[in-house]
Amino acid sequence: MPIYHRLGQLPPKRHTIFKSPAGAFYYEQLFGTVGFDGMSSLLYHVHRPTQVKAVLDPVDLRPAVAVDHNIMSRKLVGFDVPPANDFLESRTPLLINNDVVVGVAAPRQSLTDYFYKNADSDELLFVHRGAGTLRTMLGTIPFVPGDYLLIPRGMIYQIEFDKTDVPEGTRLFYLESTSPIYTPKRYRNYFGQQLEHSPYSERDFKLPQNLETHDERGDFVIKIKKEGILHTLIYDTHPFDVIGWDGYNFPYGFSIHNFEPITGRIHQPPPVHQTFETKSCVVCSFVPRLYDYHPDAIPAPYNHSNIDSDEVLYYVDGDFMSRNGISPGILTLHPGGIPHGPHPGAMERSIGKTKTDELAVMVDTFRPLKLTKQALGVDDGVYFQSWRE
Ligand SMILES: [Fe+2]
Repeated sequence: MPIYHRLGQLPPKRHTIFKSPAGAFYYEQLFGTVGFDGMSSLLYHVHRPTQVKAVLDPVDLRPAVAVDHNIMSRKLVGFDVPPANDFLESRTPLLINNDVVVGVAAPRQSLTDYFYKNADSDELLFVHRGAGTLRTMLGTIPFVPGDYLLIPRGMIYQIEFDKTDVPEGTRLFYLESTSPIYTPKRYRNYFGQQLEHSPYSERDFKLPQNLETHDERGDFVIKIKKEGILHTLIYDTHPFDVIGWDGYNFPYGFSIHNFEPITGRIHQPPPVHQTFETKSCVVCSFVPRLYDYHPDAIPAPYNHSNIDSDEVLYYVDGDFMSRNGISPGILTLHPGGIPHGPHPGAMERSIGKTKTDELAVMVDTFRPLKLTKQALGVDDGVYFQSWRE
């Protein structure tokens, strides 16, 4: 997050003596990425953050690939992915490559029995259904439907859902990215401030608040995902023992409903919807907006072939203007190498319309995606022929 934030107590000077009122040392930790070159925060712990007591047997979480080389457009019914009690078990990878994991999750329970850390990737959780609180070692972020939660790699967290027994349950769409997830550079000035033509501003970000400081000893389980393997480490002290921190590297939330659409007289290309970027993919938000206002404008997109990127759309709500047979929770994959476009009738339907209420998240990856076994299980198998007249 390219803005400065601080919570709790800090010594006036970094890397200097900092003690509790009782005279005990606090322990400083630099929490950074990209070596010492990326964004970082300085944390002050009540206890040393290094007190590993035991390391238990690892679990292999690497997804099984079912289709290694894909050229077919796919329609995956995300809501057909069954719920699971445990938060991590519920996370179902659907589309993967060496850069990203794209998946959905329907957790029945909050993650409160243990702590979780992804050491490989930044995580972007999109809350489709459900509400609750993300609890991290740097503070808490309440969330509601439509929120993106950006959790930088290495962040220890738990997640609490307000209600897990509602009929529709909790539904998440998620992206894990091995390269850091940032806001687009073209919307930031030299100092990192969001520029005036950005579709959102700093005020729209939900920053961590209510820093929890637990001075507790015991057996604290942290499950750490590294190179696709889930390691279970037992620590002597509570991982949420930070008395204060400041810096730029922290989790934050952003509501898709705060994305201000950029519109024009004629059709605007997908980059106007861009919300996040990494070295290997972009994330776009398609939100309700007024349509193009040229008298002869065709609001539906033209056929297009990004020959070298795969396009994943996750449909959240509303009528998606360019597609037939789409409902919330569905993912489509339009692979690089072949063009795609509006379904027959969609272009014609769009002419003369003044607005759309579509809500969707798009992930475009720069390298081809592979389908997991779970993806094939919810693949309709015929979508690739759906453009035939
Ligand atoms: Fe497209």
